[in-house]
Amino acid sequence: MASALLVLAAAAAPAFVSALNNGQAVTPRMGWNPYNAFSCDTTEAQYHTQTDALVSSGLAALGYTYMITDCGWQGTKRAADGSFTWDTMRLPAGMPNLASYVHARGLKFGVYSDAGYFSCDNRNGQAGWMGSLNHEAQDAATFAAWGADYLKYDNCFSDSPTTFVNHNPSIDLRPHFTAMRDALAKVNRSIVYGLCEWGVQDPARWAAPVGNSWRMSDDISASWSSVLRIINELVPITGFAGPGGWNDMDLLEVGQSALTLAEQQTHFAFWAAAKSPLLISTDLTKLSAGSMAILNNTRIIALNQDVLGKSIAFKRRYTDDHDVWAGPLADGSTVALIINWQNARRSVTFNLADVGFTSVSAQNLVTGASLGTLSTSYLHVNSRRAWCARAQAHQRSSSRSSRVHLVHGRQLHTLRRRLLAHIQLERCRWFHWLGRGCDYHRRRRRGERRDQVTCLRLHQRGSRLPRRGREWLPQLSRHAYKRERRRNSEG
Ligand SMILES: *[C@@H]1O[C@H](CO)[C@@H](O)[C@H](O)[C@H]1NC(C)=O
Ligand SMILES: *[C@@H]1O[C@H](CO)[C@@H](O)[C@H](O)[C@H]1NC(C)=O
Repeated sequence: MASALLVLAAAAAPAFVSALNNGQAVTPRMGWNPYNAFSCDTTEAQYHTQTDALVSSGLAALGYTYMITDCGWQGTKRAADGSFTWDTMRLPAGMPNLASYVHARGLKFGVYSDAGYFSCDNRNGQAGWMGSLNHEAQDAATFAAWGADYLKYDNCFSDSPTTFVNHNPSIDLRPHFTAMRDALAKVNRSIVYGLCEWGVQDPARWAAPVGNSWRMSDDISASWSSVLRIINELVPITGFAGPGGWNDMDLLEVGQSALTLAEQQTHFAFWAAAKSPLLISTDLTKLSAGSMAILNNTRIIALNQDVLGKSIAFKRRYTDDHDVWAGPLADGSTVALIINWQNARRSVTFNLADVGFTSVSAQNLVTGASLGTLSTSYLHVNSRRAWCARAQAHQRSSSRSSRVHLVHGRQLHTLRRRLLAHIQLERCRWFHWLGRGCDYHRRRRRGERRDQVTCLRLHQRGSRLPRRGREWLPQLSRHAYKRERRRNSEG
């Protein structure tokens, strides 16, 4: 983890004006989606079980009201009249019936489709499950008739019926998403419109008049590096979020055991304070009390649903040490979020000057405890997190032209990738890729490991890092990771 989350007394800020005027998602939507738990292997029985659990756990009553479908239920062929169909093996009773099931329990129903030729449901390398490209008006009418209250609109096969995922599509994607916006505007039903464009063409800068939220990054995964990557990507775009149009940081990994509770707490608090939609994506029948207590924290939920609708913004990074983010709330106070980047329980001093104050009265939002009046700084004993990058690079890299952005302290540096060879990354150091969707990939080929850093909008295919990739691993080896987790178990 870990974060300190404080509310500070302060001055108010101007209100955001939304451009998509559909009256939806005035605050970020909250709910459940199967993808991080079940991927595209979804069934009617699962949807029923999770719908029931959302209600019986008490989470629905706290605001998690959208039960949203994902890939895995679409048919492969349209009906004779051209309308959208479902897979009758996976959904024997059908989509309208599932919508009724959800509505009968007082929840809202989310449909999933795709802005390309086919949906992301690519089974064993076989594509063919339906997308909505060129069928927008008919599909919007169908989804409305089924009882949809939300549409998650994905981006597979966007520029070709044969390319599953293209992070650098050859076409301008905007017409795909505006076509569905216009189709939804014509149906006689209020439907929240969630763009799932994966951040590939910088939707924060154009999607406010198009959708109620836009995925601003590639998919999250159950790893701390993935949480860090998405936080870095948010740095330049926090100002684009506001009532009716939100930066969607992707589904929550709270409840996934690959993250410690401290990491889950940090992830959740950050997503909430950045005003991301809060979409739980774990098997609710197996949720631990610890993860439940993170998801049901009413102070953090209130932060997400604050009517001012302002995201926290990046204030300062103390490289390898801690981050400070802050933003205004409707009651005139300021929320500050401090992330401990180190893999240890330790004391971190929060300098009030980093958020523009010298003296405040403060509250710890995670626990609810009052911190009284703070002057100048605040010393917080922070939780540990069980993850640490051990990166060491001395090797030469052959490529010359790619650029990456690194931040040291407060300064943003641009450097050519070959210079990476000269940066000695010491134990527990991170790469700091601000504003870019960079991620690590491990590949094995012919007994060799090649690690890659892939950056959206930066490289066509990612750049190959030096052969001796072991030292570049962002995660501990599986063995070491398990050992680490045992030592730190549930902080
Ligand atoms: C729109 O929906 C409402 C509520 O379901 C219904 O009362 C109304 O007749 C519908 N209007 C049209 C034009 O279909
Ligand atoms: C939240 O979950 C915890 C753990 O299950 C439980 O003890 C607590 O009562 C719940 N609080 C709310 C507000 O639901």
